[in-house]
Amino acid sequence: MVAAASSENQMPRMANNIQAEVTNCSNNVLAPTPNREPTAPNSNDQTEERSYLEITCEVIYTLIGLLYLLLEATMKCIIPTKYQTKDVKGYVVLVTGAGSGIGRRLAIKFAELGCKMVLWDINGELNEETAVIIRQKGGNVHTFVCDVSNRNGIYRTAEKVKERVGFVDILINNAGIVTGTNLLDCPDQAIIQTMQVNILAHFWTIKAFLPEMIERNSGHIVTISSAAGVIGLNKLTEYCASKFACVGLDESLRFELGMLQKHGVHMTLACPYYTDTGMFEGAQTRFPSILPVLDTEFVAEKIVQAILCNQEVLYVPRILYFIVALKGVLPAKCWSLVLRFTGSGQLMDHFSGRTKSRPENSENHSKIANGSGRAL
Ligand SMILES: NC(=O)c1ccc[n+]([C@@H]2O[C@H](COP(=O)([O-])OP(=O)(O)OC[C@H]3O[C@@H](n4cnc5c(N)ncnc54)[C@H](O)[C@@H]3O)[C@@H](O)[C@H]2O)c1
Repeated sequence: MVAAASSENQMPRMANNIQAEVTNCSNNVLAPTPNREPTAPNSNDQTEERSYLEITCEVIYTLIGLLYLLLEATMKCIIPTKYQTKDVKGYVVLVTGAGSGIGRRLAIKFAELGCKMVLWDINGELNEETAVIIRQKGGNVHTFVCDVSNRNGIYRTAEKVKERVGFVDILINNAGIVTGTNLLDCPDQAIIQTMQVNILAHFWTIKAFLPEMIERNSGHIVTISSAAGVIGLNKLTEYCASKFACVGLDESLRFELGMLQKHGVHMTLACPYYTDTGMFEGAQTRFPSILPVLDTEFVAEKIVQAILCNQEVLYVPRILYFIVALKGVLPAKCWSLVLRFTGSGQLMDHFSGRTKSRPENSENHSKIANGSGRAL
């Protein structure tokens, strides 16, 4: 197993080399032709022959790369997670929306792994509560009140973090809000605020911390999207739009970093299903035995594991991988029929949102509802 683990450590480097080869090869083929000597007789034939050769090479490289990466993905499924995790002791981890729910749990878990925590939340009181829990466990924590819907506020707070704490190794964009009404009943300001918190804030935090990550070719950007970031749902138009945008941001930026050969900067996209934090209080699922409401502790643990393993995309629960694939192959009208059958049309009918005290404030909240689900 140790041998397997060490070969696992080699894999990202080898995979990066293959990706780099494929990129170089495709650049050669696609680049304009200033270096080519075109004017000799029959040079067109020669150029054509050469470009056929280049394309054949590229196809072979791509196929080898695909085979290798598929093998790597299979190995990652087989090898136990504990042999794949990176050591994050001493890392600086910044969590937005750390005052409650998933953000609070993530903060506590990374503190337990020996990370220096930087907690951002608009709600200073709740943020401090999280910090107290971490300090009681002997953790190192810095809190900042930051409204992530304010771009300049983000940039100012980011500067303070760099001055007081230093380089951020892992940035977790977690803060999120939801309105839960039909589009036409949703006030313009609520739509704007959702976009600012759920997606635009990600751009500003990334722009604040990514340059240094790129410079060092080291770091990790985590995007907390949602199952609603891959499946559009009734009465969640603005929320789904913002979460779909998170998926686009993550996917594009990962590709961009690959093209820049910055393979030391990792990206993880997390798409959990409804989680018992109180954010979606009152929403109902029709088949909780198939898609149960998830426990916050369980979701946070899955996200931490994904980050430690440099996993690119995480759906929780696993059945979401199948559901997303099904959506990809079904015609749009068929997919709508499936959604109606699953009760997704009535999902938000009894939604009330945060009306009662936050359940995650209680340490007893850690009863895992995973699998035993009840309707939200
Ligand atoms: N709860 C779910 O069912 C669920 C499912 C999938 C994804 N998510 C996503 O997970 C993330 C965390 O959700 P949660 O359920 O823990 O929610 P939560 O409401 O428990 O926590 C969100 C935190 O973000 C903070 N926040 C809100 N607006 C802010 C702002 N402008 N600036 C700074 N902080 C702000 C809140 O104060 C709160 O502490 C969100 O992005 C959410 O969309 C939640």
